[in-house]
Amino acid sequence: MDASNSAGYEFTNDWFGQNIPIWDQLIPRFSPTKFLEIGSYEGRSTCYLIEKFAVQAPIDIHCIDTWEGGVEHDKSTMSDVERRFDKNIALAQAGTKQPALVTKHKKFSNLALADLIAAGKSLNFDVVYVDGSHQAPDVLTDCVMSFQLLRAGGLMIFDDYIWTMEAMGKQDAFNMPKPAIDAFLNIFQRKMQIVRGAPVYQLYAAKVGA
Ligand SMILES: C[S@@+](CC[C@H](N)C(=O)[O-])C[C@H]1O[C@@H](n2cnc3c(N)ncnc32)[C@H](O)[C@@H]1O
Repeated sequence: MDASNSAGYEFTNDWFGQNIPIWDQLIPRFSPTKFLEIGSYEGRSTCYLIEKFAVQAPIDIHCIDTWEGGVEHDKSTMSDVERRFDKNIALAQAGTKQPALVTKHKKFSNLALADLIAAGKSLNFDVVYVDGSHQAPDVLTDCVMSFQLLRAGGLMIFDDYIWTMEAMGKQDAFNMPKPAIDAFLNIFQRKMQIVRGAPVYQLYAAKVGA
């Protein structure tokens, strides 16, 4: 997508649109008003959350991103990406029935997550979306730290479960989210339960233990 849509948004990438059918049916089951997003880019997924959930009650979204890009991004474009994020979020907020508070945390996710834990936000969030760095050590850190912030019964969404930076047959586990997500879910197996029936490009797991 390289053009503004009817709402006036500016998105140059649409990695998110394919998730909408499953998000539409899955996320409302968690009655969410508090969201934590790791990896916001131009705000495509954030705008979806604002449009979809700032309807019955005010919502609160915390967006973590360096706006410097990951290894797969062209870093020279990222200041424009952040400008588009700000514009897109303002547009989405202007169109809601209920207030949608969006807090930007412009820093590396490990530092932003540590700040949120230190600020007493443990168990605060209904939904955590892990879509930041795609490098396995970063993904594992994001999963373990954001687990502390997810309420019991809340939903964690792992994007790019089967993404690889290298071509098939030449994959490097370091550059793949899957080994990190698998390690996290294996180690937290008594505390997280995979939500069955969802497609595997994203993985969905509910927190079932403290
Ligand atoms: C795939 S994009 C997010 C896409 C977004 N959720 C959407 O719907 O369009 C990944 C984002 O993660 C950010 N990122 C990568 N590594 C990061 C890190 N270690 N800490 C914080 N943000 C990071 C990048 O700057 C990029 O904007």
